[in-house]
Amino acid sequence: MSWVYLNGAFLPQEQACVPVTDRGFLFGDGVYEVIPAYGGRLFRWPHHLQRLQNSLDGIRLANPLSSAAWLEILEQLLLRNRESAGADNDQAVYLQVTRGSAARRDHCFPENTVPTVYALSNPIPAPDPALAREGIAAVTLEDNRWARCDIKAITLLANVLLRQQAVDSGASEAILSRGGKVIEGTSSNIFVVRDRLLSTPPKSAHMLPGITRDLVLELAAQHQIDCAQTDIEVASLEHAEEIWITSSTREIVPVTRLNQRAVGDGTPGPLWERMSGLYRDYKAAVRAGRAQ
Ligand code: PDD
Repeated sequence: MSWVYLNGAFLPQEQACVPVTDRGFLFGDGVYEVIPAYGGRLFRWPHHLQRLQNSLDGIRLANPLSSAAWLEILEQLLLRNRESAGADNDQAVYLQVTRGSAARRDHCFPENTVPTVYALSNPIPAPDPALAREGIAAVTLEDNRWARCDIKAITLLANVLLRQQAVDSGASEAILSRGGKVIEGTSSNIFVVRDRLLSTPPKSAHMLPGITRDLVLELAAQHQIDCAQTDIEVASLEHAEEIWITSSTREIVPVTRLNQRAVGDGTPGPLWERMSGLYRDYKAAVRAGRAQ
């Protein structure tokens, strides 16, 4: 059985209900976070908490819980779902805050509504060895999302449609661009290796500031791997030696086919191999309580 947290109570997932008047349901008026926990320990919790606060500020919704209350709820959730999480106890937490329910459907903010707070956790499956052998296919698409993609909003219809477009053409991610510049994936950030130099697009309101992206930058700096945060022309991806996507759930995944053509020699590259080793070591340190 899977436990979830909803508005102050832990309950079995099938018993969790929100009213149809919830603004998350009617307007997509809410924000979310996805946080891995390895060996029961939340990965980069302070960073996720800060990003949640930034998202809440971005939609002008007061944080309904203190940092300590959030931590207590998520740790309790991980404990309750411990049994179904397998030997490693790796779980992914999803949390969502909406502006709550109002009696009348009206676009402007309702008065005196109580935000809806929902959280669940799922086991993280062991990484698929085929990914490290073969990588994934991606396509490039024009980014047609809104202008505040730095807010982790639950309003994900554009991301859903773009991702499905990628899947329909036999790929598993779309690399989005605006005005010819690479932005990010539909649910991931992008790194590129060209002329042996690692680069990633700079943060902006068009991009979600990924926690995994920040960690990759930190690991690169710690291990003397130069990484530039710089504009990347989408046309230049054709000449990339390596392309990676990063996210909390997918970690660091090599893109070996782009628009039906091989990236580099069509296999995961040496810098990806090195970075994913550093990432694995970092995860092990989190599991052992030596890092956050
Ligand atoms: N998505 N960009 C977008 C648009 C994303 O949705 C995500 C993550 C990322 C990577 O962020 P992070 O490294 O913090 O996971 C970048 C999550 C996993 C999701 O929507 O399920």
